[in-house]
Amino acid sequence: MPVCQIVHLNGSFLPLAEARISPLDRGFLFAHAAYEVTAVYGGRFIDMPGHLTRLSRTLAGIALPDPLSPSGWEALHKELIVRNDLNEGIVYLEVTGGAYDVRDFAGPETFVPTVFAYADSRKLIGAEARDGIKVVFLDDTRWKRRDMKTVQLLSQGLAYRTAKARGADTAFMVEDGFVTEAASSNAWIVTPSGEIITRHLSPAILPGITRAGVMALRGKGGFAVTERAFTPDEAVNAAEVFTTSSGAMVAPVTHIEGRPVGDGKPGPVTRQIQRLYYEAMGADLAAVAPWAMERA
Ligand code: PDD
Repeated sequence: MPVCQIVHLNGSFLPLAEARISPLDRGFLFAHAAYEVTAVYGGRFIDMPGHLTRLSRTLAGIALPDPLSPSGWEALHKELIVRNDLNEGIVYLEVTGGAYDVRDFAGPETFVPTVFAYADSRKLIGAEARDGIKVVFLDDTRWKRRDMKTVQLLSQGLAYRTAKARGADTAFMVEDGFVTEAASSNAWIVTPSGEIITRHLSPAILPGITRAGVMALRGKGGFAVTERAFTPDEAVNAAEVFTTSSGAMVAPVTHIEGRPVGDGKPGPVTRQIQRLYYEAMGADLAAVAPWAMERA
């Protein structure tokens, strides 16, 4: 499905076909840009404050002034979903270093950002969440500041292409013998003894907002999470594996490198976390995710 037709560009809402950005924009020339992808469910944003906090951290980290206040960002997001009548999907926001009259690596002393945002209608609780996804392992060839959400996404784009060519949906990225994260989500395993593990936060991975959302459910769900790096072998031999992201929420991984994880079906811990997460989103489980009640 194409993205929704009314987009935001530099303070205006306009049809996508009329949105124009200079080819000298630093986002285009240098990948000098921050982005956020915020989930929308039932016409409401999921953890907007978390996304806005991460956005301002990324902007500070890449020398860009924050062009709006948190309430300004929130109003922009809201207006976009109202104008497009979006009930379920995502809002994509990108803030670049702006366009100038020369291609200059360092750029001006103070940047004047380009702000672009669009909405995209899609199912957040869909087939991937129900049936699971397949992953392969690939070298993590990204830059070293993956904690900042920038559009330097070439490694991930190529990883997706390789994964698809190998019959998988995405890749787990591996560095120095450990899984960092998936190409566009955080990676989790459940050991055969039931321990839930996800990599600790550091510049090696993106601090996922969905990851934080799952962490916040520990008390209610009565589960603990160990935050440490795990190896590809641990993932292959895990009882369950899943990913978290704003695009697919909690997605079970059923196959790694063509081999089933556990019995090759989404496992009970993953289903429990899905149930808790969907309830927190305000979803009617029986209506939209009856399969999440399995293995309860
Ligand atoms: N990707 N790790 C990476 C490398 C990601 O690109 C993402 C999100 C995540 C999960 O973060 P969050 O829970 O905040 O969405 C982890 C988004 C959805 C994307 O690029 O489309």
